[in-house]
This record gives sequence, C-alpha cells and structure tokens, in this order.
Amino acid sequence: MRTKIVAATLAGALAGLAAPEAAAQGTLNLYCSVQVEWCQAIATNFQRDSGIRVNMTQRGSGETLAAIRAEGQNPRADVWFGGTGDPHLAAAEENLSQAYESANNALLHPWALTQWRQSNQRAIGVYAGAVGFGFNTELLARKGIEPPRCWADLTQARFRGEIQMANPNSSGTAYVIIATLVQLMGEDPAFAFMRQMHPNVNSYTRSGTAPIKAVARGETGVSLSFVHDAVTERNAGFPVSYATPCEGTGYEIGSMSILRGARNLTQARRFYDWALTEPAQRLGFEAGGQLQQPSNRSAPLPPNAPDLSAMRLIEYDFARYGRAAERRRLIERWDREVGALPR
Ligand code: G6P
Repeated sequence: MRTKIVAATLAGALAGLAAPEAAAQGTLNLYCSVQVEWCQAIATNFQRDSGIRVNMTQRGSGETLAAIRAEGQNPRADVWFGGTGDPHLAAAEENLSQAYESANNALLHPWALTQWRQSNQRAIGVYAGAVGFGFNTELLARKGIEPPRCWADLTQARFRGEIQMANPNSSGTAYVIIATLVQLMGEDPAFAFMRQMHPNVNSYTRSGTAPIKAVARGETGVSLSFVHDAVTERNAGFPVSYATPCEGTGYEIGSMSILRGARNLTQARRFYDWALTEPAQRLGFEAGGQLQQPSNRSAPLPPNAPDLSAMRLIEYDFARYGRAAERRRLIERWDREVGALPR
C-alpha cells in the first residue's frame, strides 16, 4: 500500500516535470476560422513557443459569431483568430470583443490597421484575400463548358447545376460574395442576379471552403470562393484554376479579436502579439498551405499566391457591410429570396 502511494506521488511529480512550462504559463482557449491545417499549426507552434496550453476549436466565421453571441458575457474562448472581417466588426459593435493595442501593430500593412481603427481597436487584420471563381479544368473541358470570366456568365445555361457557393448564415466567404455583388450591382439587381443564378447552384454549403474542395474532387465544375483557396487545391495536385471577375471583385480582411470577458487575458494578449509577428504569419503557408496576403509587412507573399495589387478590386465598404444590422438584414433577405427557392 505504502509503496503504491509513493509510486503514485512520484509518477505525479514526474508528470508535472514533463510539462513544467505549460503548467506555469496557463491556458488559452482559441476559436479559429481559417482552414483546419493552419489552425492546428498556430495552436502547436504558439504552445511550443510560449509554454501556454492551447485548446482550439475550428468553425466558420458566421458560426463562430453565432457561438460568441450565444455565450454572451461568459465566453468559452479568449481569442478569435481568422475568418472574414465583417463578423469581427459585428462582434466589436455588439461589445463581444475588447480593445487592445499591440506593440506589433507597427509591423503591419495599413489595411490591417484600418480594420483595427474601424472596430475601435477590437479587431485587427491578419491577412487579406480576394473573391473569385474556382473551376475544375478537366471536368469543364470534358463537358465542353467554357470557364467563367465575369459575374454575368454565372447565370448562363451552360452552368446549369455546375456552381457551388456557401451559405452566408454559417460562412463569412458567402457573406463577402453577397456584399460584393450588392456593391457592384446595387442591392435589388444583385438579388435578382442571385435568383437567376440559383438554378445553376447545386448546393449552398456550410463551410466557405467546401465548394472549392468539391471542385478539386470533380464533384462540381465551378465554385465561388476566395481565389487563394483555389491555389491551395491546385498546389495539392488537383486540376483547379481560378479567375477574378471581369467586372471587379471584393475582398476580405481576415481578422483577429480578443473576446470580451476573456478568462485568460494575459495569455490572449501574448497570443495576439505573437500572431502578428513574421514567423507566425509565415505559418499559414509553410505549415498550412494557405495563400492569403499576410498583414505583417515582412512576411512574404507565398509563391504563386494571387496578387491582390494586380486585381480589379472594389472599394469594399467594411464600415457599412460589417455593421451587425446590415449583415443580419442582407442574410435574412438572402434566406427569403434565394435560400428558400425550390430546386
Ligand atoms: C477559408 C479562407 C479564409 C477565410 C475563411 C472563412 O479558410 O482561406 O481566407 O477567411 O475560409 O471561412 P468561412 O467558412 O467562414 O467562409
């Protein structure tokens, strides 16, 4: 009996010794809305660099905003990393996140700090990416379908049942697409366009990246996606290409926020500072195969990444389309006028 107790105590002490730093440095609960490979890479690398234990949950941007709202003043997470910028702005406006000024702000591109100022210092840009079309070159060639070049092409009969996009309730990508169309065409024509495109859409997926993954597998010809996600699939060996719409297109400022009521505030701020550094921002590509434009000025644009400066981008009105009421109104209109249409 006695030996057993001694052995148990010794085992306990040794277990403690195995991870002394982690025990001393505490825990960070992280909500993450980029692709899971990148989420896992930042969790593992930050844990190794800081000794802080990371519990990570990956979910889409719209889904994460819904979770944060439901948790209210008793949040389960400390930091929300990544995902499109509009729901981060909505969270800031609804007092679900808190202001923070990192010393590393000085390392960032101006667009990352515009997001920070617009959110009253509650959200900051960690990457940028543009909206466009992904397509399976082999599948389209086999079916004799010319790839899309313009938004206007997407309502044509040649794409019947060939297009996938995400559902804006769960996906930030889908919301950026809808807000882009509204800004390009005007609201009523944009909804008319989406209704006309509907017979060509075979599914509105939960996740923003599901459509480009379906394109890669040859399950659908065309996706409405962030174009960097198309390059990720092409780099993985799939017959995928992309185009940015001839009329112009919108973009995201992928963001990061510290949640209001975060229980591990010291750890949250350490993570936030770390996530803005060059080595952390290289991880998106180096460990996760992701090809967004990093917000740290020293972090290089990954090889073959779409170059936003060479695209015809609209002046995306983040202040307006990041407003919680505007976001809710447009998504509800989409539910009524597009999502509810029979197929
Ligand atoms: C992918 C993209 C990110 C984007 C995110 C949004 O991970 O690479 O750039 O921010 O999707 O995901 P969601 O599921 O909310 O559309």
